[in-house]
Amino acid sequence: MPFFISLCLYLWLGLLPGRTSTAVNEDIEVLVMLPKNNSYMFSIARVAPVIEYAKQGLKIGGGLYSGLNFKVRYEDSDCGNDALFSLVDRSCEKKPDLVLGPVCEYAAAPVVRMASHWNIPVISTGALASGFRDKEKEYSHLTRISPSYLKMAETFLAMFRHFNWKDALLIFDDDKKERNCYFTMEGVHLKLMEEYQTVTYAINSKDERLNTDEIIKYIYESEVVIICAGADIVRDIMLAAHRRRLTNGSYIFFNIELFNSTSYGNGSWKRGDKHDSEARQAYSALNTVTLLRTVKPEFENFSLEVKRSIQKAGLPDCDDCDNINMFMEGFHDALLLYALALHEAIRNGLTKKDGAEITYRMWNRTFEGIAGQVSMDFNGDRYGDFSVMSMTNTEAGTYETVCNYYGVKDSFQMLPGFNPDHFTLRGLHRVSHADLPDKSSGGLGVSAVTGIIVGALLGTALLMAFYFIRKNYRITIERRTAREECDIGKHRQLREDSIRSNFSAA
Ligand SMILES: *[C@@H]1O[C@H](CO)[C@@H](O)[C@H](O)[C@H]1NC(C)=O
Ligand SMILES: *[C@@H]1O[C@H](CO)[C@@H](O)[C@H](O)[C@H]1NC(C)=O
Ligand SMILES: *[C@@H]1O[C@H](CO)[C@@H](O)[C@H](O)[C@H]1NC(C)=O
Ligand SMILES: *[C@@H]1O[C@H](CO)[C@@H](O)[C@H](O)[C@H]1NC(C)=O
Ligand SMILES: *[C@@H]1O[C@H](CO)[C@@H](O)[C@H](O)[C@H]1NC(C)=O
Ligand SMILES: *[C@@H]1O[C@H](CO)[C@@H](O)[C@H](O)[C@H]1NC(C)=O
Repeated sequence: MPFFISLCLYLWLGLLPGRTSTAVNEDIEVLVMLPKNNSYMFSIARVAPVIEYAKQGLKIGGGLYSGLNFKVRYEDSDCGNDALFSLVDRSCEKKPDLVLGPVCEYAAAPVVRMASHWNIPVISTGALASGFRDKEKEYSHLTRISPSYLKMAETFLAMFRHFNWKDALLIFDDDKKERNCYFTMEGVHLKLMEEYQTVTYAINSKDERLNTDEIIKYIYESEVVIICAGADIVRDIMLAAHRRRLTNGSYIFFNIELFNSTSYGNGSWKRGDKHDSEARQAYSALNTVTLLRTVKPEFENFSLEVKRSIQKAGLPDCDDCDNINMFMEGFHDALLLYALALHEAIRNGLTKKDGAEITYRMWNRTFEGIAGQVSMDFNGDRYGDFSVMSMTNTEAGTYETVCNYYGVKDSFQMLPGFNPDHFTLRGLHRVSHADLPDKSSGGLGVSAVTGIIVGALLGTALLMAFYFIRKNYRITIERRTAREECDIGKHRQLREDSIRSNFSAA
């Protein structure tokens, strides 16, 4: 009953002539911290037109937010620590009211910490690493408007439960710089570790040759293989697996590619080289997990307008700048969400300087974004919807989305192209983890043990000379063992600290 009364009151107030006084007038200083370099999908030049579009939408749309006057400044955050220095430098005279970005993990960590300390809300389409979910302390003012890696990993957890798989091999390319795949796999590991075995296998494609023979050994020991790496590495691994007949249904392969839509789906196996036909066959066993993209009528206009601005600006080194990506969508929705929260806060007697209050008002709510509904969880992280794509026509080598995972409902939807056989493990498995030393470490022990065994083999059983000549081996094993030692035991905590420790070490 009280609901109806307030609804009527609200309607009545809203219908009064000239009742736009619900709109509030306010100048808001926005600092956008993104890289200038257009090789990033979230470069300033790509995102600026989106923020312009969102500003204009707020001005005309409905009137409620038309009094909000966003003054936007752009700072080159690069992808590392420079971001923090920009923030501090730009905030000397006057602190911003809102920070949008940074996206890269190592740029975001210090900026979010500083902004939280200054009581300034931060909304990012990045900072997807698991460590950022800790909103109790240092990341208290961070709202993540794109689904984090942990949310993505829910898709795998749901599949593992549904298809009764037991263990996963996580292969990832760790560039030791931005470490996107490292953080991606960290999410998968954290989600799966409580119920399933996970073994991690790190490569560093910049420094070392891809050792497919070693990778194949690991694959033999697994059921589900999940790869996060560049398109060429994924192809090399799939080709190697195919040549050993591991793509015959006894193993299930995934790669994770959330953002770069040119590197998965149709044409992803094609290079125009002599391996194309083999690669097409290999990819019939490869499934891709990516973001579920939705569109609605308004999106068409958004997409056209943004593309037009970008073309008009004539950006250099920007091949795929015509594609609207999820970072661009996210920053549009970030401004909307902030406007909703700020408006609500001001109507409740607060000001734009009540950063914590505004931040909470952005959490635990659903609103209409540019490409569809956006749902934020109560921790200020967006729920994610993801798609699984598989090759549905092995002759033509074309892909289709075969199922979707919806984060809010934690549910799957199978699409017509879905073939259950494709996700059912066939044949006997040699997997035997009975001799695992420490099951509570979530299976990371396996690769630590394997690493030590291989190390011992190289060091003693094989000749010492070999050990020194194949320096690559030594580096790989040392690094992997060192990492695994850290992982065992207080894995979770160490990983969360990793963002901090890397920052202070850099
Ligand atoms: C942008 O980044 C790419 C890749 O990291 C690099 O090769 C290029 O030199 C950078 N461009 C500029 C202008 O810094
Ligand atoms: C996206 O993938 C394509 C194909 O693998 C690659 O050429 C391109 O550089 C990637 N783009 C970005 C921004 O990583
Ligand atoms: C997009 O919408 C705006 C306002 O509704 C309109 O002025 C503009 O012409 C539209 N653009 C396109 C490309 O349709
Ligand atoms: C989230 O919002 C709903 C109502 O929209 C409320 O019932 C619930 O208590 C909120 N949860 C938290 C954790 O604040
Ligand atoms: C791939 O190509 C096929 C055939 O041309 C088409 O039906 C399908 O929609 C395409 N898939 C994607 C994801 O674009
Ligand atoms: C697939 O190939 C592997 C390796 O050759 C073999 O162990 C397995 O039995 C085969 N599985 C099926 C279902 O043919």
